[in-house]
Amino acid sequence: MINPSIEEVIKERRTIRTLSDQTVSIEKIKKILEVASYAPYHSKEEPWSVVIVSTDEERRFFVEKIMDSYERLDIWARYDQQHLAASKKRTERYFLDVPVTLIVTAPISEKKKANLEAISAVSAFIQNFQLAAWTHKIGVTWRTVPIIFDEVFKQAVGVEADRQIIGLLDISMIDETIKQPTAKRTSVDQWVWDLSEKRLVEE
Ligand SMILES: Cc1cc2nc3c(=O)[nH]c(=O)nc-3n(C[C@H](O)[C@H](O)[C@H](O)COP(=O)(O)O)c2cc1C
Repeated sequence: MINPSIEEVIKERRTIRTLSDQTVSIEKIKKILEVASYAPYHSKEEPWSVVIVSTDEERRFFVEKIMDSYERLDIWARYDQQHLAASKKRTERYFLDVPVTLIVTAPISEKKKANLEAISAVSAFIQNFQLAAWTHKIGVTWRTVPIIFDEVFKQAVGVEADRQIIGLLDISMIDETIKQPTAKRTSVDQWVWDLSEKRLVEE
């Protein structure tokens, strides 16, 4: 689509889980991150911080830490034990094959309001990133795998103790020869209400 409108980009963007071996330009990723940083935020400092996993050496280190965390959190207990070895291999293979991952974090606040604002702003930043990436034919999967809550994993990958991981963004060029996912959303009248329909009416 030539010069799509913002509405078209919002509606057409999809989570892309199919990896391609086309090179992803880190320069381009950084430009898109700069665009994403025009998200709204409500704190003294911009709340987002990003660690990029892109080189082979970084990737190997990162996947080692992911696999350690899966063991530490006993995540494999939820898997079919008969095919455990294959599941472990598949998981490791997937994470090794992702061309680029962004570890996106927000500050942790003891204050409920500030914590919500930080998570919300960083989520807006992530969505900006996903939308801008889409226009460059860069696919993103926003992942919240359980290891993001593992303090040992966090520390190993350079996330400070006072920050929380909002998502791992797995990034790959979109292979246009493969059919892209489509999406449906429920109609607005399913989740929009007038206050008069919802409010508590006192006797
Ligand atoms: C906060 C958040 C966490 C997500 N975590 C995962 C995840 O761990 N694994 C995954 O495959 N997709 C994950 N997704 C992607 C959603 O599954 C996806 O957005 C949803 O299916 C709607 O599809 P769409 O993005 O193509 O509209 C996550 C999305 C959000 C917003």
